[in-house]
Amino acid sequence: MVLVWERTFEMKGLILAGGKGTRLRPITYSMAKQLVPVANKPVVLYGLEAIVKAGVTEIGVIVGDTADAVREALGDGSRFGCQITYIPQPAPLGLAHAVQTALPFLGNDDFIMYLGDNLIKSSLEALIDEFRQHRPAATILLAEVEDPTQFGVAEMENGRVHRLEEKPRQPRSNLALVGVYIFSAAIHDIIANLQPSARGEYEITEAIQGLINTGQTVRSHIVQDWWKDTGDVAAMLEANRLILEGLDRLIEGTVDADSRIEGRVVVEAGAEIIGSVIRGPAIIGPGCKIERSYIGPFTSIDSHSVVREAEIENSILLAETSVVEVRGRISSSLIGRGARVRQTQQVPKAIQLVLGDSSQVELP
Ligand code: DAU
Repeated sequence: MVLVWERTFEMKGLILAGGKGTRLRPITYSMAKQLVPVANKPVVLYGLEAIVKAGVTEIGVIVGDTADAVREALGDGSRFGCQITYIPQPAPLGLAHAVQTALPFLGNDDFIMYLGDNLIKSSLEALIDEFRQHRPAATILLAEVEDPTQFGVAEMENGRVHRLEEKPRQPRSNLALVGVYIFSAAIHDIIANLQPSARGEYEITEAIQGLINTGQTVRSHIVQDWWKDTGDVAAMLEANRLILEGLDRLIEGTVDADSRIEGRVVVEAGAEIIGSVIRGPAIIGPGCKIERSYIGPFTSIDSHSVVREAEIENSILLAETSVVEVRGRISSSLIGRGARVRQTQQVPKAIQLVLGDSSQVELP
């Protein structure tokens, strides 16, 4: 009898939830950018759930200054069907540095790395299956974008990735690196010899280039469905729109007889809709009170917020906000936790603002 030993490779998950959130200030002064809600769910949970759905349940989460809040949101992972190991990164020195920090957790295993502020629609199963079948050193995802200067950019030759460059001033293609990668343990040797880039970070993009330079296989796929890096407000609102597009109608809160709910709307338990029109897709979180108001498409209102005599569309309101008696429609806005917006009848009719650092106000 001949015994054939087939080595099975374990795959772990690595989610990056450290770093800074400079482009989402002021929200990120008090909150991790990976915890900003999209359709009332912290953005990092979409990645976590996709990894678990693909059968990967041992997950490391890189954390930085906002470690406590990330731990509170994700717990030990049991709520999501996985085991989470938190890996503190002493300083946000780059994505490759995060991988290096995670080495004791990753060991020799393959791993799927997901940037905690990225969102992709496509599932990860097929990608992981394909990696297991071909066993390249890395699989990367690419997506066509309008402004590649904000991303890692790939140059292809004969259908293969030939060159990668991080945030190039003069991009050689419009193919951006998506923040989801699968690596074999081969990446660690390359990272060990990496130098910091011009912006002072250890770049994963350069590490992948190192794999190519040393003759190792890097497979790539172009993302067909949507992909979003939720790093700034416009992208966040766009991600909110894309997720809300897939919403199913569910009314668990109370809606009075004077209200109208149109289309795909979720009204979560304990929310009250009084004399209002909610036009989907939109989600109203638990404990919210919407009175004599209009909530338009692509709006997410998180728990225990109050909207009274106001109109809001294409916006994200975080928990415990209040928008009261505002003339004119609020649109394309991101309103932070506990913020208050209201109209007054006082004279002089001046605009009175109490804004946090780096806030933005656009008046008609
Ligand atoms: O979104 C895709 C892009 O992500 C790629 O096209 C780029 O090649 C890649 O470098 C990355 O660029 P960003 O500048 O957008 O990366 P950012 O600094 O926003 O970090 C991505 C995530 O990783 C974010 O959730 C924060 C976290 N992070 C970041 C750094 C630098 C860490 O956990 N540790 C870190 O040291």
